[in-house]
Amino acid sequence: MARMPQGFSRPGRSHASRRRFLQFLAASPLALAPAWSGAQSATGPPAVDRILDVFDLEAAARAALPPAHFGYLATGTDEELTLRANRDAFGRYQLRARRLVDVGTLDVATTIFGVTYASPLVMAPVSSLRAFQPDGELAAARVARARKLLQIYSTVASVPIEQVNQARGEPVWYQLYPTNDWEVGKALVTRAERAGCQVLVLTVDNLGNNRLTQERAARADTRSCQACHTVQGPRYFVTRPMFAGLDLSRATRLTPHDWNWDYVKRLKDTTRMRLVLKGIVTREDAELAVEHGVDGLIVSNHGGRSEDSGRGAIECLPDVVAGVDGRMPVLVDSGFRRGTDVFKALALGATGVCLGRPYVWGLAAFGEAGVDRTFELLGRELDLIMRQSGTPTRADIGQASIVDRGRW
Ligand code: FNR
Repeated sequence: MARMPQGFSRPGRSHASRRRFLQFLAASPLALAPAWSGAQSATGPPAVDRILDVFDLEAAARAALPPAHFGYLATGTDEELTLRANRDAFGRYQLRARRLVDVGTLDVATTIFGVTYASPLVMAPVSSLRAFQPDGELAAARVARARKLLQIYSTVASVPIEQVNQARGEPVWYQLYPTNDWEVGKALVTRAERAGCQVLVLTVDNLGNNRLTQERAARADTRSCQACHTVQGPRYFVTRPMFAGLDLSRATRLTPHDWNWDYVKRLKDTTRMRLVLKGIVTREDAELAVEHGVDGLIVSNHGGRSEDSGRGAIECLPDVVAGVDGRMPVLVDSGFRRGTDVFKALALGATGVCLGRPYVWGLAAFGEAGVDRTFELLGRELDLIMRQSGTPTRADIGQASIVDRGRW
């Protein structure tokens, strides 16, 4: 959080210190976002254009959102070792700059399962986007359409999948929380298939958590939440559009606790969609995924929200890439905030990089324009490091681009 310059608040200060404070305010990202009370920002150029990186968006989202909603977005689990490791671990890797390479034209187009996207940047599935801004998943879909990005839609999204597919102009990938009732999971899969989805993403790391930042933020929020949160606790999902019309009498949680690799095989046999597992972080599990006919993986620790292993996602990536050994695409997420972060993942063998919080910060602060700004900024940063590394195309980015200093 930005601090006030010293000496501002004393009465009778000179015009100079007053001017300094106004300059400080104008430069602060906190001044750029409308407050969550609905107040609009001052006149002048749209404030979103003055956002310089995704951390500015984070500050603007904090100012724009009610405390409980920002807490839900920000939280990790337990001591938040994994949340911090997701950022710190990028420091383990250095990049090898190459000079005098023709980088006049860059190509970051990314093909996954035969579909070509304009960028390796992907929208991770994030629940309840309308809790952050009324356009929610539709705003994200419109940006994904304009920028030709892959969007992954959450089971607990706040807009029906059919509407999101229409706004995207193509079917999104469908992220599945099957619940502990197989029949409910099957019905969700059938609906996604009917909506035209080609890829099913089963999230395997959501087995409960201890989200203290979220809890503390909720306690600090003095508003009454009953009007929106009509069902509290673990069964909150029953109010979400994907569950409309289903018999939910036996569904008590989003993820079964008694599943195993046979479950993956059974799910694979149930659908014609390609199956991707989200939340794989070890070589052993990558090898098991290959054995069980899985089509793709997302290396992820849920943005540090699920398990407090203390292992950053970027450090898990080489392990998983080794287990897959080129047999399927490997995407990664958790903690990616810079073009250089994305570049490091590509150099370590990732096919694509999903972003979670950053585009939600953009959404919360500026709606669709903020989502767009997120991908503009990260795309621009990625272009820069590709030039500096002498790697004009995706194919040029590889092991020779990166140095692993190991744990320090
Ligand atoms: C998520 N994530 C998530 N994952 C998933 O498979 N289904 C979901 O419904 C959600 N919901 C969700 C809500 C919020 C508020 C956050 C922040 C995250 C996890 C998400 O897909 C992704 O793994 C992380 O967000 C990536 O980490 P960063 O980019 O947020 O650090």
